[in-house]
Amino acid sequence: MQILNTVPDVRVVVKEWRLAGESIAFVPTMGNLHAGHIDLVNKAKVLADRVVVSIFVNPTQFGVGEDFSTYPRTEQADQEKLSTVGADAVFLPSVSDVYDPDAATVITVSGISERYCGAFRPGHFSGVATVVCKLFNIVQPDKALFGLKDFQQLTVIKTMVRDLNIPVQIIPVETVREANGLALSSRNGYLTESEKLVAPELYKVLCAAKAAVIAGRQSFEEIEQQFVKNLVQFGFKPDYLSICRSQDLNPASDNDTELVILVAAKLGSTRLIDNVYFSKGV
Ligand code: PAJ
Repeated sequence: MQILNTVPDVRVVVKEWRLAGESIAFVPTMGNLHAGHIDLVNKAKVLADRVVVSIFVNPTQFGVGEDFSTYPRTEQADQEKLSTVGADAVFLPSVSDVYDPDAATVITVSGISERYCGAFRPGHFSGVATVVCKLFNIVQPDKALFGLKDFQQLTVIKTMVRDLNIPVQIIPVETVREANGLALSSRNGYLTESEKLVAPELYKVLCAAKAAVIAGRQSFEEIEQQFVKNLVQFGFKPDYLSICRSQDLNPASDNDTELVILVAAKLGSTRLIDNVYFSKGV
């Protein structure tokens, strides 16, 4: 596996592969890799001749007071995992490799970036869209894989790719979970032992909310309120639980059938997000 630290390093390797007529799949990450990330890499390997993974804790997507400085950085272990799984290259830039000190351009996918997580993390999705666009320009992949765990992030990126005619195919990948239902996340490491026992309730509440939507006996608003209350009873501090149209994340109405329930809630100091998406028969 090639270790690439700078943008010119990536350009050289990618040029060689292109000249050999090889296709490239790309998996952007912030590291501290778990089985969810590795699943993206395995899927990428099936879809292209070469796989590039980036590990970059992107400062512009963290707000003031968020966990940028304490975000888990486990580069050595990450590289071993990627090498074992057979990634062709890992891109490990520093902040100054990615951001020019005089950078004046940011990407904002308006509307969707201000709702749900965006309302609680102002500027977050602009930071994500900007770094992902830059990484696309650096790696120039044919395909890029993103987890459905971060459903809103995936929607922001799909919208950006559509609006800016970026020639990259976005491939969504299923959420990898613990046996107890908890979605794998680098932030799960922040949970205390007692919080770890409660955390799986987030997904259980989502599944119960989904069952309530399918049963169709209450309005969406009533379901949202009921399950927010439920989360509070378990000890979460919910930011939101919202029933949305999976296509564009607009609030769902009764005759929408393709739905996703998005949730974000704090457990102690750890912010967890998750979602369930499904078709509701009419
Ligand atoms: P990070 O949180 O490291 O996630 C990298 C990729 O792994 C994302 O596409 C995310 O959705 C996916 N992922 C995380 N947990 C997953 C799980 N349990 N199952 C399946 N996929 C999972 O998301 C980011 O980094 C950053 O915002 C990034 C896109 C790299 C831009 O900085």
